[in-house]
Amino acid sequence: MTIKEEIMQAAYGAGEIMRSAPPAVDYAGSKTGHANYVTEYDSRVQEYLLQRLSAVLPEANFVGEENGKEVFREEYAKGYTFVVDPIDGTSNFMKAYRPSVTSIALLKDGKPWIGVIYNPYTDQMFHAQAGCGAYENDSRIFSSEAPLSDSLVSMGTAPYYEEEVSRSAFLLGHWYLLRSIDIRRSGSAAWDICMVAAGHIGLFFEPRLCLWDFAAGACILQEAGGSITAMDGTELNWRTSSSILAVSRGAAAGDYLPPRELMAGKPI
Ligand code: IPD
Ligand code: CA
Ligand code: CA
Repeated sequence: MTIKEEIMQAAYGAGEIMRSAPPAVDYAGSKTGHANYVTEYDSRVQEYLLQRLSAVLPEANFVGEENGKEVFREEYAKGYTFVVDPIDGTSNFMKAYRPSVTSIALLKDGKPWIGVIYNPYTDQMFHAQAGCGAYENDSRIFSSEAPLSDSLVSMGTAPYYEEEVSRSAFLLGHWYLLRSIDIRRSGSAAWDICMVAAGHIGLFFEPRLCLWDFAAGACILQEAGGSITAMDGTELNWRTSSSILAVSRGAAAGDYLPPRELMAGKPI
């Protein structure tokens, strides 16, 4: 089995744990900020993935959301690092609203090399390896060639950051609503990026995301011909949390960068 196939097997196992949960799951604790919950399943899936992925590549570092290592360490810039979001879409998971997915990136020398995102409720496995194409299950995927004006836009925003962050999300949502077919909000950033990669969504944005939310999706989207940058169009450094703009081939061919005032949470 290749390393990517072994990671996919680990993601299937994570999905089994998620599917074993009752339909509605209460939170076991909360993290910094408003409504930033963690359930026993977030911790269980992460623990399972830590064990399972350590066996796949014993020399790799492991960064998981639930051990809270937000700060990139210099040692991750060389060799292999797993960056894992055990359940992306925790508030969906708690309410049995879908999707919730497992997101696993393998960084090589500090950049995404393999990306695996699995939705256990629909059995959709998105996967890519740098230079080898992106796939949904066994089918090759490509981002859409439609212009932004003929595309759906998906947005994300979290309630647990400073108010300017959510204000800018809603200002930007309105700006994109007037330039696209309509706006969607899934509740899972990793899933949103897969939807751009698979051609269903033309552009996804969110004012602040962590590396575990976007690293696997970035690999999948880039292999599907799309692009991923910060919201001002600058390159990601793969080290810190960042604003995210994930764009299809068609949307990228036109004007898609939003005004700076809106990104700062100021109306125009
Ligand atoms: C969240 C989801 C959500 C996004 C938040 C993320 P979590 O991740 O991806 O869609 O809007 O910013 O924090 O907490 O469900 O892993
Ligand atoms: Ca997440
Ligand atoms: Ca999570």
